Amino acid sequence: MSISLKSILVTGGAGFIGSNFIRLFLRKHKDVEVINLDKLTYAGNLESLSQKGQSGQSVDSNPMYHFYKGDISDSSFVSRLFHEWHFDAVINFAAESHVDRSILGPRTFIETNVLGTMTLLEVAREFGIEKFLQISTDEVYGSLGATGKFTETTHLSPNSPYSSSKASADMLARAWLKTFNVPTMITRCSNNYGPFQFPEKFIPLMIINALQNKEVPVYGDGENVRDWIFVEDHCEAIEDVLFNGKIGEVYNVGASNEIRNIQLAKLVLSKMGRSESLLKFVKDRPGHDRRYAMDSSKIEIDLRWKPLRSFEQGIDETIKWYIDHEGWWKRIISGEYQNYYKLQYEGR
Ligand code: NAD
Ligand code: TYD
Repeated sequence: MSISLKSILVTGGAGFIGSNFIRLFLRKHKDVEVINLDKLTYAGNLESLSQKGQSGQSVDSNPMYHFYKGDISDSSFVSRLFHEWHFDAVINFAAESHVDRSILGPRTFIETNVLGTMTLLEVAREFGIEKFLQISTDEVYGSLGATGKFTETTHLSPNSPYSSSKASADMLARAWLKTFNVPTMITRCSNNYGPFQFPEKFIPLMIINALQNKEVPVYGDGENVRDWIFVEDHCEAIEDVLFNGKIGEVYNVGASNEIRNIQLAKLVLSKMGRSESLLKFVKDRPGHDRRYAMDSSKIEIDLRWKPLRSFEQGIDETIKWYIDHEGWWKRIISGEYQNYYKLQYEGR
């Protein structure tokens, strides 16, 4: 069902994928009000929305864009926002998103990813909306062996506190549709990379460490496989699902770019003209999923979505972005990130 929209609530819009989504959405849909609700955790960064995009305009100078600082688990705050804006749709990006942090401290993952999602679903149920899109991840399916791919009917077998909290949210989205008729849909995407990704994640961490001639930590034997997608391709898929997705459906999103971590690390170092001697094998992540691979044929057939960037183009563009935006990541790594980095890597 294609819908027409006057206003949408985007949660977590100051994060990596949310900020890329808002930028793309405002560029393409000039008559929809976009309300960004974000708690501004360590991962939320309003600077990601004040940078000028292709149009020469920044998101935060667009009159159709509105920012509210708040927590998706705060039901009175979320209710007030719904009361003020009468949203037609909700896209829930807001989450604690990093597996390693979920191992160091799982509580906030349950608070935001599970209770926060339930709060949004409850308020959406009270006010009524046309679509509620839950942004999920391939990690809810668990880990693959050497062959095969995740489809939408693969059993959910999450292995980390992060992925189990995301799987819980998916189950809530399903239950709120079946029980209360909240019109939910779910997208499950593979590993994203691209501009504005917080440097705790593997690709930006490698680029930033290489730029500073610092070691690049590779977990375990480096043979874990991830299926990488350029963030804008993911955002286009979300846009397609928002307008044309069917209520109650799950859509897998991936770009068929399976790469072993060690192969990826060597590729990034070689593209940056750095020596492989920067590679440092470190203690493995507990419960480290071995392999992810997505079968996206459903969204490709039903909604005619397909990724537009090759991995080669995407990774070149990403490396260039981090080189050109040194100020953006230097301001991050001079803050709270330092404590995290020490906790995470010292003694590994
Ligand atoms: P991110 O960590 O970069 O951004 C998360 C954003 O959510 C931040 O701006 C943060 O301030 C905000 N937030 C956190 N808790 C909040 C709360 N309680 N209330 C309001 N805002 C809150 O994450 P990301 O990589 O942009 O991921 C966005 C979504 O996409 C997440 O739901 C994640 O599970 C999902 N996802 C990510 C990937 C990936 O590779 N990054 C892949 C598939 C799915
Ligand atoms: P990450 O970007 O944390 O995403 P996810 O765990 O959600 O897939 O990690 C991607 C892969 O890279 C994963 O197999 C863990 C690995 N990794 C490293 O080898 N070194 C690192 O410093 C990081 C952050 C990740």
